Amino acid sequence: MVSVPNGYTTQVMIPWGTPLNGVAPAFAGDGTNTAAEQALQIGANHDGMKFYPLPAGSENSDRGLLVVNHEYSNSTLYAGDGRSVDADGNPTDPDEVRKDINAHGVSVVELVRDTSGEWSIANTGFNRRITAGTTMNLSGPVAGTDLVVTAFDTSGMTTRGTVNNCGRGFTPWGTYLATEENFQGYVTTDEDPIPEEKARYGLSATGFGYLWGALAGDASEVNDEFARWDTTPSGATAASDYRNASNTFGWLVEIDPYNPVSTPTKRTAMGRILHEGAEPGRVIADRPIAWYMGDDNRFDYFYKFVSDENWDPADADGGLTAGNKYLDNGTLYVARFFEDGSGEWVELDISVPALAARFSSQAEVLTYARIAADLVNATPMDRPEWSSTDPNTGEIYLTLTNNTRREVGGENPANPRANNSHGHVIRLAEAGDNPAATTFDWDIFVFGSNASADPSFNISGLTLDNEFASPDGLWFDKRGVLWIQTDNGAPLDSNTNDQMLAVVPAGLDGDRLIRPDTQAQLKRFFVGPAGCEVTGVDMTPDNRTMFVNIQHPGGTFPDGAGTRPRSATVVISRNDGGEIAL
Ligand code: FEO
Ligand code: CA
Ligand code: CA
Repeated sequence: MVSVPNGYTTQVMIPWGTPLNGVAPAFAGDGTNTAAEQALQIGANHDGMKFYPLPAGSENSDRGLLVVNHEYSNSTLYAGDGRSVDADGNPTDPDEVRKDINAHGVSVVELVRDTSGEWSIANTGFNRRITAGTTMNLSGPVAGTDLVVTAFDTSGMTTRGTVNNCGRGFTPWGTYLATEENFQGYVTTDEDPIPEEKARYGLSATGFGYLWGALAGDASEVNDEFARWDTTPSGATAASDYRNASNTFGWLVEIDPYNPVSTPTKRTAMGRILHEGAEPGRVIADRPIAWYMGDDNRFDYFYKFVSDENWDPADADGGLTAGNKYLDNGTLYVARFFEDGSGEWVELDISVPALAARFSSQAEVLTYARIAADLVNATPMDRPEWSSTDPNTGEIYLTLTNNTRREVGGENPANPRANNSHGHVIRLAEAGDNPAATTFDWDIFVFGSNASADPSFNISGLTLDNEFASPDGLWFDKRGVLWIQTDNGAPLDSNTNDQMLAVVPAGLDGDRLIRPDTQAQLKRFFVGPAGCEVTGVDMTPDNRTMFVNIQHPGGTFPDGAGTRPRSATVVISRNDGGEIAL
């Protein structure tokens, strides 16, 4: 099961398949729930999440909406030994594929704490599933352009579904940003050669083998429900097929959890990458807001989006209307890191000569942001995952989870280890603490390692008590405690499963900033069950309840012998009711 320090208690909640409301059918442990039932149940493979107190705008720590990403699905979804496929591995049962589509996306679930400290699901009208089939708006510079015209909406203003929602993002106006990471696992193409615009995002003929598009039928009987997952041009124009469907994924999707009938909105001004996290920097009145965004792929980049509008605290409960104001107009940048500890944010704008030579519009720059970033020589990183902002200093921390394909001679100052099996955490300080700065300073905060590794690799001097590999989830709580979660590929000397560590990188002694010794302060706080990844973390506003997600557990977590493993949320609290602390 899971382990926490002495004096702490855990409760497992909302595992995959949990009914969302009073009318949803019960979870069937043998995989026999139907697609329609799955649409009313918690999705699969929990990932990033955030707690939204109820009522909106309050600091209530006893009732709120937990918004949870469901990154992907696996064969435990189905009855028997897996889904029905033909000899080529293509799915043959439409209802199984519909169930898969409904297991993806995001859950909004109301949770309430009773006086004994137990949490349970409530249902006062907010609970909702957003899936890989939900209709969504496109907004910002790409919306309504030829790049996103499909047979579903020839105006290019709407699309269907969100997939592979991984790290989380959020706004200061009460909305959630669901990230779209490995969408190339779902949308496929049979084009040969694959155009650069698709190849640079990893599209292939098979993706991750979901192959939902295989149910589309032949050209004479195109089934629109499934055809959209195959982007091979088949019609006379883009308006009659799904060649552009891949351009409708890879965005940040803004969701208003407080408005259960609102339409999720894909914010195209923030760029199209394999989005991991999207956390804002410090939010300060009368200044623009910056969101920091990793593109999780070996040798891909770290981005930021800066709003044109300055933050007005009157927008704090603004919902998607505030999103229109701050997220549809702004500037996208990509990071370059230099040897002397300085760095540069390079603007990805059509006015940049190298981009004007390749692209015909800003909409193209945003849609193909990876290609744009290649053209301005962004620094290739070791898989940028989550970032978070230190509330005490404004510094941005970013996990670089690992990169075993970085060869000797291919290192760069910000990614200095060849065969980087254990990853590291990098730290940036914007010039003048300005969200819109175009330069920054940086250093490496900590390197993952086995305790026994040579000091040339165990650069941070980790011990058996705090060795870790593959930092992925990352979050500063509002007190300045940094929580680091792992998605481990490398076995540790201590045989520790995936885990969550905590450290206070910087504190305030009166007005004086102090930086405790990282190695001494870095402490293992939580260890997950065998086979899992620990990902997704948040707390109630009183810092007394913590939510942590367990993704793809092995064994029989959490239901025990004879059951299928289920991803779930673990609720952590102190036995004495105090704040979660180191
Ligand atoms: Fe879905 Fe980058 O982890
Ligand atoms: Ca991740
Ligand atoms: Ca991961």
